[in-house]
Amino acid sequence: MDTMTANDLSHVVDADRAHVWHHLVQHKQFETGEPRIIVEGKGMRVWDQHGKEHIDAVAGGVWTVNVGYGRESIANAVRDQILKMNFFGGTVGSIPGALFAEKLISKMPGMTRVYYANSGSEANEKGFKIVRQIAHKRYGGKKHKILYRERDYHGSTLATMSAGGQDERNAQYGPFAPGFIRVPHCMEYRKHEQDGAPDEGYGVWAANQIEEVILREGADTVGALCLEPVTAGGGVITPPEGYWDRVQEICKKYDILLHIDEVVCGVGRTGVWFGYQNYDIKPDIVTMAKGVASGYAAISCCVTTEAVFDLFKDDSSDPMNYFRDISTFGGCTAGPAAALENMRIIEDEDLMANTLVMGDRMVANLQALAEKFPAIGDVRGKGLFIGAELVTDRDTKDPMDEKRVGAVVADCMQQGVIIGATNRSIPGKNNTLCFSPALIATADDIDEITDAVDAALGRVFG
Ligand SMILES: Cc1ncc(COP(=O)(O)O)c(C=O)c1O
Repeated sequence: MDTMTANDLSHVVDADRAHVWHHLVQHKQFETGEPRIIVEGKGMRVWDQHGKEHIDAVAGGVWTVNVGYGRESIANAVRDQILKMNFFGGTVGSIPGALFAEKLISKMPGMTRVYYANSGSEANEKGFKIVRQIAHKRYGGKKHKILYRERDYHGSTLATMSAGGQDERNAQYGPFAPGFIRVPHCMEYRKHEQDGAPDEGYGVWAANQIEEVILREGADTVGALCLEPVTAGGGVITPPEGYWDRVQEICKKYDILLHIDEVVCGVGRTGVWFGYQNYDIKPDIVTMAKGVASGYAAISCCVTTEAVFDLFKDDSSDPMNYFRDISTFGGCTAGPAAALENMRIIEDEDLMANTLVMGDRMVANLQALAEKFPAIGDVRGKGLFIGAELVTDRDTKDPMDEKRVGAVVADCMQQGVIIGATNRSIPGKNNTLCFSPALIATADDIDEITDAVDAALGRVFG
């Protein structure tokens, strides 16, 4: 440690290079180059080991830090709570656990119960286990299949990968768990790649593709449909007109539970508390993680209706008749303490209103860039959850080579602007630039980000 001073993080870089296995990264590059270490953050900005400042257009890389960096009030709430009571297993309650559940439920009409866990993957696994147990309790195990959609992602564990609609994430990790069935995507921009997709009424048609899968599998075998309200890593896909109404009709018709994955959309990202609330969806199960505490503590939630919850307490004489699941760190109080303060900040600073205004501004800026650069084939999004799909030809919509997409991201990074791109997601289609700045972004921040994209596109595509 004696080689390390406040200005010299070379030891940290060496330790990282020698011992840390980074997420979702090929490490050969670190044999010659340095891994990036993010040392500090404040508001929209982060600083690396060389003191270089960056504006972060992706909220911690993965749609997470909704209220921005360096929030003292969250740090204080967590500190006070963990000094008082840091942890007890989730068979019992905690003060922040009860209070955050109450606050969360007040934002989710129709939902009543909060099950605490640690990650988005884990929350989704809880949802899957709830569906499976209901199948066993009510339908002799038959109605156990879980439908998931092409291009959606629900996590990194083997069960959530079994429900994974992104073939590059899944490749080489099989075999997967049985009973997970894929339904087609609903991406209007690429409907020309789907056999039979109509020019008019695409949303209803795309939903009807789900019904076809249900009928093929047998409705009495299908327990749930798990969908992202707006697909994130699969290409920032906003649903087509008419899609969600028809999806809900289908679920009702065949007695299929609707599990909405709000891991990215949840807690303000789309300008309302939850993405599903944009589309008048009435879910049975809702899962959330990333933005719940903006990354100040690890917390995820699997939220259900009282009707779902009731099925797990209806016969107390049966020793197996309850949800026999535990998440050790679901008992950490730092999560709900941070989440409560996170929600207070979003309300008191009116960040969802800001999200809508800034989201419109970012979309308008990107659309203006599309006038200039034919490589931008499509701009889409909801609130501050935005994608720009790059193509080689606007008419054929052939996807841009991911190396050139990566060059745009790298150029922005060079300029001190961190943007994202779909990564090891859909084979041949990792071609969407992703933007999800913190909900505190100002007009100047948005313009700084899109100016950098302008310069990068100019250099990469000429
Ligand atoms: C929609 C969605 N669901 C679930 C997950 C998994 O969350 P986690 O990485 O916290 O397990 C992610 C992560 O990116 C996600 O985007």
